Amino acid sequence: MSKSKIVFIGAGRMAQALIAGMYQLNDLEITVSNNGNRKRLEKVSQTYHVKITDRWEDEVEDASMIVLAMPPEVHDPVLQKLQSLVGQQCIVTVAAGIDVDYLQSKLPPQTPVAWVMPNTAASKGESISLYAIGSAVNTDHEQLLQTMLASVGEFEKVTQQQIHQLTPITGSAPAFIYRMAQQLIAGAKDTGITEVQAQKMVAQMIKGSAVMLQTDETPISLIDQVASPGGVTAAGLEVFDQYQFDQMMIDVLQACYDRAEK
Ligand SMILES: NC(=O)c1ccc[n+]([C@@H]2O[C@H](COP(=O)([O-])OP(=O)(O)OC[C@H]3O[C@@H](n4cnc5c(N)ncnc54)[C@H](OP(=O)(O)O)[C@@H]3O)[C@@H](O)[C@H]2O)c1
Repeated sequence: MSKSKIVFIGAGRMAQALIAGMYQLNDLEITVSNNGNRKRLEKVSQTYHVKITDRWEDEVEDASMIVLAMPPEVHDPVLQKLQSLVGQQCIVTVAAGIDVDYLQSKLPPQTPVAWVMPNTAASKGESISLYAIGSAVNTDHEQLLQTMLASVGEFEKVTQQQIHQLTPITGSAPAFIYRMAQQLIAGAKDTGITEVQAQKMVAQMIKGSAVMLQTDETPISLIDQVASPGGVTAAGLEVFDQYQFDQMMIDVLQACYDRAEK
């Protein structure tokens, strides 16, 4: 069986997370290009044993998939160049805001396109990634896309509108968890343990909580298991209510949606 060729345009953090997940797969051939940072490209080549090039345009013809792993604002000139080069290659972007409709509007009709939204945990193989596909994407393209996303964690297929709405939850919310972690680490350190010990404890607590959430138990039932009425945890949760934590989370997500709209 011939190998599927994937061309990355962009060699930064997200490209490298995806490449790190996939470079050892036998039936894939990966070529990587960027905006001229030769040192970065050579490092990528040494680390992952992938082909690198300064001219991605020459690599498009026999590719199955082109992954645009670069900032949203530089997509237009690249999509314009792709216009005369693409046929059955699936054009995939990982950029915020560059959805399926946008890709389709910039490429010839019937070009297969997909929008993928991983999160920063992709670099550790623990992303929850979202993807949406255009109408011209075939089963082979989608399988290749899923292979790529499986190599960096879990994934869900949704609509592009759902990606817009879910990005604050899958993409931004890790920062909200880290913000809480920062305060818990500070509290732990106040007991006299080291920062390293404190961070290890808090990280494992969050990881354990995530594993519990991956069972079929609901958050409410898990809260009940920790918090007995009138107990220590219940006292803490009462403060959540005093500060209207639930409303705050609604406002937090709304703020993300509002900013994304702009
Ligand atoms: N990092 C994340 O966790 C994350 C999560 C979800 C989505 N994303 C999205 O992924 C995309 C890349 O993010 P990143 O964090 O990987 O950024 P990054 O580390 O800054 O890397 C950006 C890459 O894009 C390349 N590039 C810039 N302009 C280009 C152009 N005109 N032609 C070709 N390549 C160009 C850069 O080339 P040089 O190497 O030459 O500088 C660099 O390799 C962004 O759209 C971002 O929104 C990132």
